[in-house]
Amino acid sequence: MTTSVTERSSWGTRAGFLLAAVGSAVGLGNMWRFSYVAAEGGGAAFVLLYLLFVALIGIPLMTAEFVVGRLAKVSPIRALTGLAGPAWRPLGVLYVVAGVGILSYYGVIAGWTVRYAIDGFRGAIPENTAAYFGLVGTGWPAVAAFVPFLALTVAIVVGGVKRGLERTAVLLMPLLFALLVALAIWAATLSGGGRGYGYYLRPQLAELLNPAVITSAAGQAFFSLSLGMGALMTYASYLRSEENLGFEAAAVAVADFAVAFLSGLVIFPIIFHFGLGPAIGLGGAISDNTVGTLFIALPAGFRTLGAVGDVVSGAFFVMLLLAALTSAISLLEVPVAAAIDAWGWTRTRAALTFGGVTLLAGLPSAFSLEFLDAANKFVGDFLLMVGGFFTALLVGYRILPQADAELARGLSHRGARRAWAVFVRYVVPPVLLVVLVFLAGAAIGAIRTLLGVW
Ligand code: TRP
Repeated sequence: MTTSVTERSSWGTRAGFLLAAVGSAVGLGNMWRFSYVAAEGGGAAFVLLYLLFVALIGIPLMTAEFVVGRLAKVSPIRALTGLAGPAWRPLGVLYVVAGVGILSYYGVIAGWTVRYAIDGFRGAIPENTAAYFGLVGTGWPAVAAFVPFLALTVAIVVGGVKRGLERTAVLLMPLLFALLVALAIWAATLSGGGRGYGYYLRPQLAELLNPAVITSAAGQAFFSLSLGMGALMTYASYLRSEENLGFEAAAVAVADFAVAFLSGLVIFPIIFHFGLGPAIGLGGAISDNTVGTLFIALPAGFRTLGAVGDVVSGAFFVMLLLAALTSAISLLEVPVAAAIDAWGWTRTRAALTFGGVTLLAGLPSAFSLEFLDAANKFVGDFLLMVGGFFTALLVGYRILPQADAELARGLSHRGARRAWAVFVRYVVPPVLLVVLVFLAGAAIGAIRTLLGVW
């Protein structure tokens, strides 16, 4: 038994779809990853490269995912095989594997934000935040925070497209944005913050040509825009209306960048105000410290402010939590939609089953930061780009006429569609291929670590 097309769920409003897509894109990636990779990648130079990748690969590929989703109106595995034949099934399976893979460690990090938000408001984060993180960041305490986060994600996905995904995004995204702006204003009042802005955005233009910075900008754009694993494809499969998908993709990209940029304006003044630069090895080892900035340095700063600090700290981690939640539901929705379509499962059964699988898959990340980091590198960077590469090949070379006709429903400008096709065929695949070659070494290292920790 499969759900027939008429019963298939759909978004209530156009804004609902857009907010859900923005909710998927805006996540932990914008909050911690963007700021530290920007700082270490030459500040303004990194931001320029990042925007370049958003324009060159991000928007065209996101448009492609939207087009495939709305064209097929089924979950990704079926969409790919239905449009292009059984040879494309492995790509759909890769989407599902990547979705569970990302959620498995992403949920662990989100669990930390749950714990920090609660303890932050209670004023229960001790002065020695490094020791505190050591206690709550790994092992059973991490599992104990990961499980409720996953349970909440599962519950929302069980609620379905309109009542679950859409309602959550419509309620939480404005709240998240308001919290972010309030925190940015608060941060602007801190003395010494100017040096933080300076560090964040100092233009070190030499970095524009540094291959490591270029690949990290590409990886960041990819992860942050939720590309490469059919998440946005799945979201677009619930569309009924004829919106301009190119425009929607651009709108998601702009909103995602705005949040990432604002997060940097929150984080850097705080770090410099509290003199936390050395604590996170600013200018040095900040990158091998994905947890250091947000989970060790910042709460230590908030701590020194007493009661005000507790409120700010709680608000900060609630904001992270909201961002993580709307992203996590989009990750879980991919396997859930696939199981509903392929096996005729109920939404509840699918969400519970894949929630359980994610929990098991996440245990190693909850017990080992090294594993978490390697999973992030391998799945979050490498597999996503592999998925994006093949998605571009599929749309650009296999189903372009159909895809173009679908895009035309809403985007009548032929020149714009032709430009899109040129990007999908001749820009996205070669650029991704080059980046993948650069990343291959790191990916192999990450696999070794994953196997080693096992
Ligand atoms: N974009 C989210 C972030 O920045 C993470 C995310 C959610 C994601 N869904 C995705 C990444 C799908 C890749 C693919 O935190």
